[in-house]
Amino acid sequence: MVVDHRIVVTRRPPGGTLDWLTSVGAVWTWDENRPIPDSLFSSEIVGATGLYCMLTDRIDADLLDLAPDLLAVSQMAVGVDNIDLRAATERGIPVGHTPDVLTETTADHAFGLMLATARRLSEASDFVRAGGWKQWEPELLLGAEVHGTTLGIIGLGRIGKAVARRASGFGMKALYSQRTPDPVAEAGLGVQYRSLDALLGESDHVIVLAALTDETKGMIDSKALALMKPTATLVNAARGPLVDSDALAEALSRGIIFGAGLDVTDPEPIPVDHPLLALPNCLVVPHIGSATFRTRVHMAEMAAANLVAALSGERMPHCANPEVYEK
Ligand code: DGY
Repeated sequence: MVVDHRIVVTRRPPGGTLDWLTSVGAVWTWDENRPIPDSLFSSEIVGATGLYCMLTDRIDADLLDLAPDLLAVSQMAVGVDNIDLRAATERGIPVGHTPDVLTETTADHAFGLMLATARRLSEASDFVRAGGWKQWEPELLLGAEVHGTTLGIIGLGRIGKAVARRASGFGMKALYSQRTPDPVAEAGLGVQYRSLDALLGESDHVIVLAALTDETKGMIDSKALALMKPTATLVNAARGPLVDSDALAEALSRGIIFGAGLDVTDPEPIPVDHPLLALPNCLVVPHIGSATFRTRVHMAEMAAANLVAALSGERMPHCANPEVYEK
């Protein structure tokens, strides 16, 4: 076989997906169980024609300038806020990502985080492990109701819609907020549009699923938290910097809101001595929204298929910057 391409893989993906890549080129893989060090990434990317990367990698204009031969970037994630898409497009580089395959799995997780936060499952589990369970008590670990309450979804994209479908099974009224109202979703899912402030004030549970952009960064700050009900929960299953961590710690400790469930944090990973981790009403898990065996393999395969297509001269099936093909 003629090996045409040099492909850099920044972290070994699950399944047998590396074999897909070796069919189109020579593959160099960072094999340690931690993100690739910047200096090594900068040296390995020189001369690469393909890049298979993870959401922990920073792909900016400086990095792309080190790789003038780079033809395609493919990330094993749907979110691409770690990649400078404009810089990639300017250089004619398509960027692949993995929409759809993780939608339902991530919605399950976001909904589960809301249930766990409202019903204090992490705190209750800690209580049992610490030997606190001596008797049944009429007021032990009382939590917030979920069924029949009002859910506010911030960002009604694919995952937001999948969460709205779950909410209807729980008899919840679902509100949503985003830059542009979506009348089709309103008709199909029965969700109702609200401004962000109105949604925060009206919801019993709020799930943040917006994309991270300059506009949405820090959108849940102390002002936003102050609008929420003291009985409300907040879940972030999108990107950490959407929520101001200091403001959240303050709101949780002062009873401004009832609880929070975080799949993502800012900073990420969160240091063990971070104030949020000292709060019993804050459940934090390590960015595992899409982490099921089947979904992660699907994501790995989809990212490989994106890269193989682009390196074979075809249009990338799932491209985050499709405008690159209009140039
Ligand atoms: C993504 O794909 O963007 C998630 O954050 C990880 O599955």
